[in-house]
Amino acid sequence: MMKPRITVIGSINMDLVTKTKRVPQRGETVLGDSFFTIPGGKGANQAVAAARLGAEVDFIGCVGDDSFGQELTKNLLNEGIKVEFIETIPVTSSGIASITLSEGDNSIMVVPGANYFLTPDIVEKNETVIAESNILLLQLEIPIESVSKAVSLAKKHNVKVILNPAPIQNLPIGLVSQIDYFTPNEHEKEQLFSSFEMTAKEKERLQRKCIITQGAKGVTIFHDSEKLIEGYKMQIVDTTGAGDTFNGAFAYSLSIGKNLEEACRFANAAAAISVTKLGAQGGMPNRKEVEKLLERDF
Ligand code: RIB
Repeated sequence: MMKPRITVIGSINMDLVTKTKRVPQRGETVLGDSFFTIPGGKGANQAVAAARLGAEVDFIGCVGDDSFGQELTKNLLNEGIKVEFIETIPVTSSGIASITLSEGDNSIMVVPGANYFLTPDIVEKNETVIAESNILLLQLEIPIESVSKAVSLAKKHNVKVILNPAPIQNLPIGLVSQIDYFTPNEHEKEQLFSSFEMTAKEKERLQRKCIITQGAKGVTIFHDSEKLIEGYKMQIVDTTGAGDTFNGAFAYSLSIGKNLEEACRFANAAAAISVTKLGAQGGMPNRKEVEKLLERDF
């Protein structure tokens, strides 16, 4: 069987992860429990999720000319992802995310570094890659002009686009109308809907394109009517990257011809498995593992 082709254009970060029982208050010092450097970045995470499930993935992104950049590129290569479209930006540091894990949840601060050097020109240079893919998967950790350029190239070649609007920002209306699927969480959905004036019809049209991820609760889709696909009860180790796993798996499942609900069920199960291990990419499952969980009751 031919592998589906997914192009991811997005961020690639080194995650600097600290585990602590208590998050320090302003002006306070606490002793943390442990520290790890783990490959991350929403773009790279979503690329890894799709590749582990069986997609052929092309990744377009930027790293700095530092050791993190080399390590991050090597990590994607080890996952079977095509890395020849990654650019190394001179005298610039790779993106990093400072992540604190505490009481079963995380807080994240991203410093984009080289990710913000991913210009519309770099996107345009790779038009053929976009044109040859089944799905283009995007997030918002790179400049918005580059996201817009990628979307317009995808539309020119009839390629489906999924936008994970994270971290959320106000989007140009022209961009919104070109996206096939949005995958916001509840908070991102609120901002997406309040960023511009819409008629009731436009709101309804946007709603039908939205798949709302709701953490442990599951995922809500709006097709003929609103429907909640319930989350699974799992032993949580680290929820970082669960949304990314959902996106990569959703893109994979759609690209092999599943319908919206089937793809969301598949992605919901993949995301559930991802929280059982440390690191954004640590728990991302293969296809067999997802299919096994899909057979289980919640
Ligand atoms: O979605 C999780 C990711 O967000 C982390 O890997 C971090 O790098 C940030 O981009």
